[in-house]
Amino acid sequence: MNLVKKIMIINGPNLNMLGTREPDVYGSLTLDQIIEHTEKLIDSSLCQCTWYQSNVEGEIVGRIQQLISQDFSALVINPGAYSHTSVAILDALLLLKIPVVEVHLSNTYKREDFRQIKITARASSILMEGLGKNAYLMAIQSQLL
Ligand code: DQA
Repeated sequence: MNLVKKIMIINGPNLNMLGTREPDVYGSLTLDQIIEHTEKLIDSSLCQCTWYQSNVEGEIVGRIQQLISQDFSALVINPGAYSHTSVAILDALLLLKIPVVEVHLSNTYKREDFRQIKITARASSILMEGLGKNAYLMAIQSQLL
């Protein structure tokens, strides 16, 4: 029996700009550095992570649809700004039978009004906010308990 859980992590628009993008809000690490930090602390005998980033809504919808026929046990998604706008990503997420964890590096409740609506989070079983560079680590670990 395979005990290693396969977890997909999807990052939406502008998360490829972490490191230079509003460091006071998102910290100074790049996405690659956050991935390295996360991978270092994850027990690879329990979990295998696949990372994907796109700035394009339709590409994210397509990657989510592919999960239907793949053997991932959970999806962690930071939809970025699409969280607040995308019914298309919500509808794709609702196709999935695996748990969905939505994460945001920042605590959006401390931010602008337009960030208070999270359309995509309606499809998630867990919503985690404000954990900065540890956001993905905590989201992945929530699926290993
Ligand atoms: C974000 C929060 C969103 O409001 C914003 O548009 C992002 C990043 C976060 O991780 O805190 O792109 O998802």
